[in-house]
Amino acid sequence: MDKKKAEGLYIKVRPGSRALYHRACQVMAGGISHNLRRVRPFPFYVQRARGPYLYDVDGNKYLDFWMGHYAHILGHAFPPVAQAVSDLVSGRGYHFGLVHREEVELAERVVDLVPCAESVRFCTSGTEAGMYALRLARAYTGRSKVVKVMGGWHGASTDLTFYIYPPFSGADSEGLPVGMEDQVIPAPFNDLEGTIEAMERAGDQLAALIVEPVIGAGGCVPPKEGYLEGVKEELDKRGALLIFDEVITGFRLALGGAQEYFGVTPHLVTLGKILGGGFPLGAVAGPREILSLADATGGTPKVLIGGGTFSCHSVSMVAGLKVLEYLVDNASWLYPLLEERGKRVRSVLEDIFLAHGVRCQVTGVASLFMAHFPMGEVDPQDPAALALVQDKEKEILFQLLLVNRGVFVMHGGGAVSLAHTDEVLDHYFQAVSMAVEEMEP
Ligand SMILES: Cc1ncc(COP(=O)(O)O)c(C=O)c1O
Repeated sequence: MDKKKAEGLYIKVRPGSRALYHRACQVMAGGISHNLRRVRPFPFYVQRARGPYLYDVDGNKYLDFWMGHYAHILGHAFPPVAQAVSDLVSGRGYHFGLVHREEVELAERVVDLVPCAESVRFCTSGTEAGMYALRLARAYTGRSKVVKVMGGWHGASTDLTFYIYPPFSGADSEGLPVGMEDQVIPAPFNDLEGTIEAMERAGDQLAALIVEPVIGAGGCVPPKEGYLEGVKEELDKRGALLIFDEVITGFRLALGGAQEYFGVTPHLVTLGKILGGGFPLGAVAGPREILSLADATGGTPKVLIGGGTFSCHSVSMVAGLKVLEYLVDNASWLYPLLEERGKRVRSVLEDIFLAHGVRCQVTGVASLFMAHFPMGEVDPQDPAALALVQDKEKEILFQLLLVNRGVFVMHGGGAVSLAHTDEVLDHYFQAVSMAVEEMEP
């Protein structure tokens, strides 16, 4: 089916979304406030969500694999979270602007579960957490340069809006301060030699290397054996810090995140998404010695971590605590189950594409998966190469054909949650088979 016909089918059953999008375009740049939500030809407007499903304003139902930007590992509107938040809001209020019990409890959980975490600072988003992690690293080492892995997404902070998108040539936005680009040096993921070369380029000014231990939005690519270990060893030699951005992988790959899963402990970690139980939250964590640079007990702290008006928001803390409590109590069966379901999804997807002769590369690890449509042969362990040869039009058509069959994926994939039962996955495979059949080989 060609794109025009697929769009026609999409538009026909979404008059409510179409009207809302029209209004949105009058008052928001491009009609949206997060570029990934630019579903074509126009986004469907969500009315409600439950378990693995989304429902839009026109009454259409979708099996969702985007799961709130991967935030919902237990499904949408997980009942214990919904109940706890509702009790809090109606019984105690919701934004105190002062300290409260739950922030202590959540910090204790993080310290308990995440190997590198002795001390935590909360903020409101993963983006902020990345910004603060770099600030800590620069202050701790007294150096300024940062190596950033190409294709890594750490939010659109001024520090890290570089080398995110192909062709990975530098700044990904206008409006960044002059000279900022000199502070960020790109490195190729899964290429230890190339990464060491990037460190060399920073010379004695290398403060840190920041990496998603599994490249997330930039390709869903896990590390090659030895890569993270080699990077850490090299950084240690140079007196620089390893920062893992575990905003996606934290509490997802294992209770202790990717650092537990791959057995490599970074110096600092940034967290978000699952940590907030579906509400806005970010955190930077690491050794007391480094985090104490932000301690304001004695007056002015060395490192200013603002936190923000809504940091440690009671709703996010209560929701995060409920999710972590469930994950801890059920870890022995839950993580193996998610692992197995993720593996099944990747393997069945590969079979379907192969059977239909559509060139596709499926990547991922644990509960994460992504379907790429490369325009030629490519190394699936190299996210930058995958992105460079990606057939974007095919990816968009795949998303559209699936939406027309009641399935929502982002970047051709997403994250399996506890709510994605085997039956739900069977429905997904059927939809994929039909969608792939409609694609040109
Ligand atoms: C790996 C990673 N780091 C950082 C961020 C930014 O987090 P937030 O969107 O909470 O600012 C994201 C968001 O998608 C992410 O995937």
